[in-house]
Order: sequence, then structure tokens, then C-alpha cells
Amino acid sequence: MFFVHGLGAMCAGFVTTMITPPWPGVPFELACPRGTQQHECARLQGHMPTCHEPEKDTQEVLNSFLAHCNWPGQSCAYVDIGCNIGYFAMHAAMLGASVRCYEPTPFFTMAIRESLRLAPSEVAGRVVVENVAVVPSAERAPPSLNFSYAYSACHIGRRAIRQHVARYGHWTTPTLAMSKLVVSKSPITLLKVDIDHNEGELLHHVIDLLASGEAHIDTILVELGDNRASRAGCAPSHATCKQASTLRGGSLRDVWRLQHELNYTAYRVNIHTAREIFGWRGDNLNLNHMAPAHPGLKPLFGVRMMRKLELLKRSLPLEQYATGELFAWGQSFLFTRQQLLERARHHSIDVAFVGLIASREPLNAGMEEAVLPRADVEVQA
Ligand SMILES: *[C@@H]1O[C@H](CO)[C@@H](O)[C@H](O)[C@H]1NC(C)=O
Ligand SMILES: *[C@@H]1O[C@H](CO)[C@@H](O)[C@H](O)[C@H]1NC(C)=O
Repeated sequence: MFFVHGLGAMCAGFVTTMITPPWPGVPFELACPRGTQQHECARLQGHMPTCHEPEKDTQEVLNSFLAHCNWPGQSCAYVDIGCNIGYFAMHAAMLGASVRCYEPTPFFTMAIRESLRLAPSEVAGRVVVENVAVVPSAERAPPSLNFSYAYSACHIGRRAIRQHVARYGHWTTPTLAMSKLVVSKSPITLLKVDIDHNEGELLHHVIDLLASGEAHIDTILVELGDNRASRAGCAPSHATCKQASTLRGGSLRDVWRLQHELNYTAYRVNIHTAREIFGWRGDNLNLNHMAPAHPGLKPLFGVRMMRKLELLKRSLPLEQYATGELFAWGQSFLFTRQQLLERARHHSIDVAFVGLIASREPLNAGMEEAVLPRADVEVQA
């Protein structure tokens, strides 16, 4: 291979593509794992109808919680467990967050290091990448794990993985206990856990560390939905749906504790939770096949940069959590101590015109459901 100035990335065996995340995300150059072809890497620009990655809801969450990180005097920490080839790690770093990115697939972490080499030095300087497998506790996990599979977004990186596995059978990655990476005096702004495996079990350990005051985390985004039966759409009363009481190794009680003991507000965040199909104008094109509304969820629209959230009502008793409808397969949850909602306001003439004042209909009725039980947060009806 010969070196051509400016094509260093190609010579090193990496193809790259320019990524422009949704506003106010900042563009960056992303390297794909060795063996990826240019047109495959370009799928991550998000224009391919056949490729749903990068997940729109995660992009919206990053923009909603990290948009201020570049402002003077701000310091943000983004921790990504299962950071794959680093798309969201780069997105967060470009927004100004300090990033810690944990990924067990070496072909992926090598690509992230290449993305960092191409990034502005002040951006690269605030990203730490570790090729480790995060495990719930050090006592019960071996010091390393063998892998022969990794989820490859839009098949990116699959070739390198298959070639390696055909030749060597597996690769070995050291493990790192969850506590090692969340226990700290300095707070984590946003923790994202998406490893398609035991997210619930990891969350369970995080909750214990939050309760004991060893960890400080403002917002958690975690893929929890575990009930495959519900993907096909089963009624909440159906036995299979009711059985979905383990959440990827965690429990429904964990979610309840976050809300009721640790004062987080819980939202379901997947933008298609009720099967909405948003068109470019922002309207829902699915008119006839919406999922039935669950009484424990309150739909919310246009919260920060997130098109749709569903508030998990604080008043919902734990016994009613045990339904596949609430924690359906693949769905993500957002737990935050941020007050996300703003009081609705309208011009008094408009409000009077539609008769809202006359009927004393409050614009902010029911908002207390979504307000954290903290003295410093106040909502007047
Ligand atoms: C991983 O594979 C190696 C062989 O390459 C084996 O010696 C080791 O016991 C395996 N580790 C685990 C945790 O299974
Ligand atoms: C949760 O809120 C309650 C009521 O304001 C407060 O007494 C309690 O200390 C809070 N707990 C935590 C962990 O913040």
C-alpha cells in the first residue's frame, strides 16, 4: 500500500463518511471498521430506507440533554455502554461532552480510534474508548469473555467479524464491572446502555449505587423492553404479556424504585412506541394501525428535541407495570432528574377565542404527574 497525502484513512484500511446528525448536532467524520466498503459506511448518514440506524430516538435524546455542553462554564459527561462503532460517542463529543465509550468488539473500537484521529484535537482529547465488556459485578464475572458475534448496525463491520470468527472462532475481551465506571463524585450527565443483552441487570446495579450515594447520574437512557410476544401485539391481559416481568435481567421494581425512591421521572422514549410513522412534516402517517393507548402512559409531544415521549405515570401502581404493553420488545426508557416539561402558555386572545378561559380549562392540567417531587421544582396550576 502506498501513502497518498490526505488519504491516510484509506491507507490504514478504514473508509470514512461525513455524518450530519439532526440539528443541533455538529457534523463529524466517522470511520467504519476495516473491510467496510465506502457505500456501506455511507449508510450511516441515515438516508437509506433499508437501514434504521442510527436510531432517531437516541439522536434526539443526545441533542436534548447535551446541546448545552459547548457553552462556557458547562461540563458534561456522557457514558456510552455498548458504543458500537462510536456514532453516538462522536455525536456527544462534538456537542462538547466528555465521553467514555465502552465496547467489547475490537474491530469497532479500532474504528472509533480512527474517527478520533480525524476529529479536531480538542474533541478527540475528551473521548476515552475502552475495549471491554461491561458486566454487572466483578465477583460473578470472569476476567474476560469470549465473543463470536456483535450486532453490526446496517451490517457495518460484519465482514471483519465473520472473517475473524471463521479463522479464530472467537475473540477475547476483558470485563469491567459496572461499578468501576459509574462510581464517582463527579456526576454523569447522560448514561446510555444499549447492549442487546442484560441492560436490566446492569441498571439494577446502577440503582443500588445511586441509592447508596456512590454514583450520581442525571439522566439514563436504557433499552429495556424484553417481551418478544408483545412485538406481535398482544393484549395487556394476555398471559404471555403478563409474564414479561423481567427486563433484560432487571425487574419492574427497579423502574419503580427509580421513580419513587430516587426521584427520577420515567419516560418511554422510542419514537414509534405507539407505532407512529412520522413524515418529514412531523405528522404521523399511521392513521389506522396505532397501538392501543395504555392508561399508565401519558403521551407528550415536542419535549426538548424529542418528538414524542410517553410519561410513565407516577400514580401507576407497581402491580400494573407487569404488562408487555409497557415494556415491549426493543423499547427504550429515559429516567431523568431534569425537569423536562414547560408550562404551556398561549396568547390570552387565542385562549379566549376558543373558549378555554370561559370554561376555566387549565392548559396545564395533570402536569404535576410529570414534576419531580423536589422542593426546588414548582409548578403552579
Ligand atoms: C475463551 O477461549 C479460550 C481459548 O481461546 C479459553 O481458554 C478460555 O477459557 C475461554 N474463556 C471463557 C471465559 O470462556
Ligand atoms: C426525593 O424527594 C423527596 C420529596 O421531596 C425527598 O424527601 C427525598 O430526599 C428525595 N430523594 C432523593 C434520593 O433525592
